[in-house]
Amino acid sequence: MSDDVMQKVISLCKRRGFVFQSSEIYGGLRSAYDYGPLGVELKRNLMNAWWRDMVHRREDVVGLDASIVMHPRVWEASGHLAGFSDPLVDCKVCKDRFRADHATPAESGASVNLHFADKGRAKVAQALIADQFGVELERRGKELVGATAGDRGYVCPVCGSPFMSEERQFNLMFRTSLGPVDPMGRLANAIEAGEFDGLSGADLRGSIDRITKESAVYLRPETAQAMFVQFSNIQQSMALKVPFGIAQMGKSFRNEITVEHFIFRSCEFEQMEMEFFCEPGTDDTWLDYWKQSRMEWWQKFANDPSKFRLRAHAPDELAHYAKGCYDIEYLYPWGWGELEGVANRTDYDLQKHAKYSGSKLEYFDPVERKRYTPYVIEPAAGATRGVLTYLVDAYFEEEVVTQKGTDVRTVLKLHPQLAPIKVAVLPLVKKNGMPEKAREVVEAFFQRGINAKYDAQHAIGKRYRRHDEIGTPWCLTIDGQTMEDGTITLRDRDSMEQRRISIDNAVQEIEDLLRD
Ligand code: GAP
Repeated sequence: MSDDVMQKVISLCKRRGFVFQSSEIYGGLRSAYDYGPLGVELKRNLMNAWWRDMVHRREDVVGLDASIVMHPRVWEASGHLAGFSDPLVDCKVCKDRFRADHATPAESGASVNLHFADKGRAKVAQALIADQFGVELERRGKELVGATAGDRGYVCPVCGSPFMSEERQFNLMFRTSLGPVDPMGRLANAIEAGEFDGLSGADLRGSIDRITKESAVYLRPETAQAMFVQFSNIQQSMALKVPFGIAQMGKSFRNEITVEHFIFRSCEFEQMEMEFFCEPGTDDTWLDYWKQSRMEWWQKFANDPSKFRLRAHAPDELAHYAKGCYDIEYLYPWGWGELEGVANRTDYDLQKHAKYSGSKLEYFDPVERKRYTPYVIEPAAGATRGVLTYLVDAYFEEEVVTQKGTDVRTVLKLHPQLAPIKVAVLPLVKKNGMPEKAREVVEAFFQRGINAKYDAQHAIGKRYRRHDEIGTPWCLTIDGQTMEDGTITLRDRDSMEQRRISIDNAVQEIEDLLRD
């Protein structure tokens, strides 16, 4: 699958109301997206399916909906304040700011060429490099040749330059302030009072940090921490016995430097996470169980399950808190990428929060009469990334035979449980009682909680194509015969086959088809 497919999916998302660029009329906001009328249905269906399978259908998992802004000490304990950062570098030639760990590799001492959009820009860069770094490079059209890579092991991913700033750690959490204290006012007062006089560099930065930190709070960068912080409240209020899980889904925020591939990586996104608390010693077994169970869950809704794989983290890849981790990856148009991580977090988080809060976060086993800190297995998935995954998996262009020859139809073969509209009800013409009959059928679907859509716009063939393109699995057509014998046509999106069924059985038929 090529990047071309990605462009087609993005274009369909906009054309048919799945996903729009945020604030588009103002030029758009980098990496922020709005889920339109069909996108919001798809995202909710995916998240509801996760909730149904992870919470409702399990006796050992309960839910939580915690606040996005939590006590700032949570992020000190979790390590996010100190460690949740990316190494950032500025290219001194093209001014791009990039992540060192995402830069173009280049061996120390290797000769590298710099490349620009046109000759003019290459000339400007040539003069800048000579002036600022005393290095004379030869220009060949849009390229500058003769530079040498330094010890860093990489060059600028945009222009290929080895002329860069030092690496800086950049925290990914969005900071804001809570309460009546205005940090800017406090800062202004401090400057006026001369508190910063004579300070520079790290000292100045440290003093500013101290003042602004007093009222600082953070938008959560993951949903996970609330489940550790509320461990005892939930365990005691629900009288839960280990092993048990706490699940949560909702928004998370990360000030990502590299935003890429449409909704794959964005600054505001949705997660579906579950913390499964188990007795130490049983953790390896539970990690195996959850990695398999989560893999099967993703594959269940896919057209091509072979595009999902489990990849074990190498020891040097593991997060500081993890004893073992598997990524569930999908083969996106640009290559394999992470969709969900299933990690053995040991007792790291509960121990940390116990230490920072002074509260005991332990479990007392009433049968064995012993007290311990449970280990945690965490399946952590991206819901918005899941939406992209299934859009890519569902996108097909198929040659179809028509009365005029052949044609290409675009069809989204979304799993019926995920499809934004389950069934479209189409009166063949807008007369002879057909619209009224169609509306009756739609109402019957609503009565059973099934999202049906009345659609009378354009010729019937065009309506079928429109519903193919937005992934509606079934169309029901009311025609002249319906008015005579009470039958309607049921058309299947994927096979395009049509058969007549009794109008009285329509809701039951669709309900049966929608079942697992
Ligand atoms: N609690 C662990 C945790 O948050 P993570 O691997 O950082 O782990 C889990 O995130 C999942 O969240 C990822 O597998 C991915 O699907 C999704 N995710 C993470 N960052 C994202 C971003 N910037 N945009 C969209 N989805 C993201």
